[in-house]
Amino acid sequence: MKSYFFAVFQLFLTLTICYAQISENHAVDVCEKKVPGVSYKIFLEEKVIENPTRDSKCFLYCVYEERNLMTGNKYNKDVMIDVVRNSTWKNLSEMEEAVQKCASKPEAQDECETAYEFFLCTKPTYHKNVVN
Ligand SMILES: *[C@@H]1O[C@H](CO)[C@@H](O)[C@H](O)[C@H]1NC(C)=O
Ligand SMILES: *[C@@H]1O[C@H](CO)[C@@H](O)[C@H](O)[C@H]1NC(C)=O
Repeated sequence: MKSYFFAVFQLFLTLTICYAQISENHAVDVCEKKVPGVSYKIFLEEKVIENPTRDSKCFLYCVYEERNLMTGNKYNKDVMIDVVRNSTWKNLSEMEEAVQKCASKPEAQDECETAYEFFLCTKPTYHKNVVN
């Protein structure tokens, strides 16, 4: 019982910290206004991540675009690597490798799909290496 509550609390904490860090970011504020009905908090819910609406994917693209990680349907790999290097990770080289790999895949049919595919591609490595 105790461990169950601890696990739920941990998850809550992770999402909260994650959200708190990102909500400081201007990009999220801009995109929450631009794409009505989607917020980063909503996007991060597992059921939304697994089965996102078109708006959720475009919200994600909007955030990437505001942060200069993508321009149109194109990755800005150098900026992505810069952003990764500016954060603390359990294993930085593993994160860099994942970003290199995921940003080297061919783009999807449009920028919203590409943003979502990049997100999914880096997600496992991100969760493995994020420092709470
Ligand atoms: C990364 O950090 C450096 C040094 O603080 C800074 O000049 C640069 O703008 C940062 N890059 C990004 C993408 O945040
Ligand atoms: C970090 O990741 C790299 C690349 O995946 C790997 O070669 C290395 O062994 C890892 N280092 C640690 C300390 O886990």
